[in-house]
Amino acid sequence: MTILVTGAAGFIGSNFVLDWLGQSTEEVVSLDLLTYAGNLENLSSLNQNPHHHFVKGNIGDRDLVLTLLKKHDIRAVIHFAAESHVDRSIHGPGDFIETNIVGTYNVLESVRSYWNDLDEPSKKSFRFLHVSTDEVYGSLNDKASAFTENHPYEPNSPYSASKAASDHLVRAWFHTYGLPVLTTNCSNNYGPYHFPEKLIPLCILNALNDKPLPIYGDGKQIRDWLYVKDHCSAIREVLKQGHIGETYNVGGWNEKTNLEVVETLCAILDELKPKSDGKSYADQITFVKDRPGHDRRYAIDASKLERDLGWRPEETFETGLRKTVIWYLEHETWVNHVVSGEYQHWVEKQYS
Ligand code: NAD
Ligand code: DAU
Repeated sequence: MTILVTGAAGFIGSNFVLDWLGQSTEEVVSLDLLTYAGNLENLSSLNQNPHHHFVKGNIGDRDLVLTLLKKHDIRAVIHFAAESHVDRSIHGPGDFIETNIVGTYNVLESVRSYWNDLDEPSKKSFRFLHVSTDEVYGSLNDKASAFTENHPYEPNSPYSASKAASDHLVRAWFHTYGLPVLTTNCSNNYGPYHFPEKLIPLCILNALNDKPLPIYGDGKQIRDWLYVKDHCSAIREVLKQGHIGETYNVGGWNEKTNLEVVETLCAILDELKPKSDGKSYADQITFVKDRPGHDRRYAIDASKLERDLGWRPEETFETGLRKTVIWYLEHETWVNHVVSGEYQHWVEKQYS
């Protein structure tokens, strides 16, 4: 049997596939359109691995997805593929509607068609795991309790609205058609292969290149941070033991302001790669104009996942961030390839 991973060349998808094949010989079909965010280099260590098959293609191509499901006798789909960057969704929401909503609808339809024709035991064991975000719950004030799975959906950005819509589609395909779905809603990930348009990798690279570390607004917005490998282990656990039709919050119990995140990162860099002039990287912190509609605080209550499935994150924010900084320092070639071309246009558009 085999699993199908959509968005497998992106940040979390590639970490998931690498971890999966590091622990299992079960085959993986990786499907990715290789948009600006997809990078085959993330999966290059699997080039000789006979258990890995990469297919370049669109989740919206129903025939392709159905063919892959049948050809590889797929027993589970892990659906990561999406447009994922909030700032890009503000500049241009169209791709987010197309990929996250229409794309997910098309995947669901391909999967439903495949699943309907399976024999009863295969039908029963099949899973569609939809990877979603804490942003669908909206923003919290400082004193509010963390999001549980029962928190109302109140998405505020085009990105989170598109993810919320996709969550609703997945839910409806379970209730209406009986498709055996699982949904995870996770907080901010960080770690290896993170595309440097997001806060942590952007600041690591800007720090090393003597550029400003841009903090939106007052920098007191709060996010919960989870090391990407811990997100991957949570997904494996939900896939293995999750109850169909259920949603599971995934989080790191690591609420930090953006300013704290960047200051911690600068302190790690000061230690691992001190600047030649003896100054701190924190001197490069620069406050810039705020993100429109910027959510103030996200906090995730992951106790259902811990209680019901026994999952715990392995990394604290400090250990995970240190590993991340070391990874970027050791992967200069990856960085150099990623920051060429389209990336430069994005940085100009967003920060000039
Ligand atoms: P990413 O932007 O790094 O990767 C997305 C991948 O999807 C890319 O490889 C891209 O090429 C691919 N893709 C885009 N459109 C496609 C299409 N039409 N067909 C096939 N492939 C397509 O995103 P990420 O950070 O790895 O996030 C993965 C998933 O996890 C997303 O669904 C995101 O909403 C969710 N998520 C992300 C975070 C986070 O902190 N990054 C947290 C919670 C949930
Ligand atoms: O919460 C989960 C979400 O986390 C995922 O669903 C998204 O796919 C993922 O991109 C991430 O969204 P954020 O908007 O939280 O991540 P980002 O790294 O873009 O921003 C983190 C915080 O840092 C946010 O409050 C905005 C701020 N920020 C970001 C950038 C890029 C800055 O202050 N300066 C910046 O230059």
